[in-house]
Amino acid sequence: MLQNDLLLRTLRKEKVERPPVWLMRQAGRILPQYREVRASVDGFISLVTNPKLAAEVTIQPVDELNVDAAIIFSDILVIPEAMGLPYEMIPGKGPFFPKTIQGASDVADLVYGDEAAQRLGYVFEAIKETKKGLQNRVPLIGFSGAPWTLMSYMLEGQGSKTFSKAKAFLYRHPVEAEMLLDKLTETIIAYLKLKIAAGVDVVQVFDSWSGVLDQDIYRKYMIPRLRQIKEAITEVPVIFFSKGAWFALEELAAINPDAIGLDWNIPIDVARQKLGHDQVVQGNLDPCKLYATPEEVKNYTLKMLEGFGPNHIANLGHGVYPDTQLDTVKSFVNTVKGYKY
Ligand code: CP3
Repeated sequence: MLQNDLLLRTLRKEKVERPPVWLMRQAGRILPQYREVRASVDGFISLVTNPKLAAEVTIQPVDELNVDAAIIFSDILVIPEAMGLPYEMIPGKGPFFPKTIQGASDVADLVYGDEAAQRLGYVFEAIKETKKGLQNRVPLIGFSGAPWTLMSYMLEGQGSKTFSKAKAFLYRHPVEAEMLLDKLTETIIAYLKLKIAAGVDVVQVFDSWSGVLDQDIYRKYMIPRLRQIKEAITEVPVIFFSKGAWFALEELAAINPDAIGLDWNIPIDVARQKLGHDQVVQGNLDPCKLYATPEEVKNYTLKMLEGFGPNHIANLGHGVYPDTQLDTVKSFVNTVKGYKY
């Protein structure tokens, strides 16, 4: 039994004493303890593929920040790698894929589904190590990129301002694009199921680049695959975070996810109008607000909590930035922890 199951109770829509709190990207560069471990290994991927160290940095924010959940230290890019497109992490720049999808034969060559997911044994080992280390203190969140966000890296080969190469593929090669999205969806489902079997208590699907898509495209290509993922994952609660997809909130809600993650661009009252008060939502403080003073952060956080009311998981609207001061992160977390409905 978990000692702190506030996140799970919230996801079950039980009446809770306060919102649970965690931060996207909490396992990472905001913590000096993380930077120390990171400096001791040869690159980000060495850390991701080392279950003992991945477990250690997953648990660090639970110890240091006292958050209500851990999120497994890994990356969404392990899926493209398992499917046959390895990534590199270039210091100061971000992800880079030496090989990308150029056309139909590249899509046909991809390994997918259970066969691809089985290649990610180091993630499942890291989950088992983390569960041991956490000793049931808080739930562990597993995650995956969504089909579109993973597809965009497989076509662009790196981050992009416009994602126009990846979007072009949807318009010029719709048949191959659907084939790619289907292979990704099957792999994501198999991967999440193996993560659940290894011990994660909740899963979050990151659709980080959904905001660049036209709403008709999102409705036609992405919503059905997100639905497929939600329908396949029956074992644990599912959180969808579709950044920038304010236009698709009602359609996302119709998939019936256990929670919907919101970014800071959607006003809280508009989100509640669209989703109602029964939908569990997660978010949505602008991560840049953590550049303010701890006292100001407290006020911003209280305003957010008041705005959402119950059925809310306190979080940021996107990942915490690496140069954020720890005292403001702690102010955010402690304000939520001291709050009472
Ligand atoms: O949330 C957590 O604390 C768990 C760890 C986690 C990482 N990546 C570790 C990481 C998670 C959940 C991710 C997901 C991820 N990775 C996403 C979706 C979430 C989002 O922010 O939208 C995306 C788009 C990626 C791809 C990725 N990985 C990028 C663009 C970068 C470079 C930019 C950056 O933030 O540094 C990474 C690298 C990465 N992933 C780091 C960490 C801690 C930094 C690498 C380092 O330590 O040098």
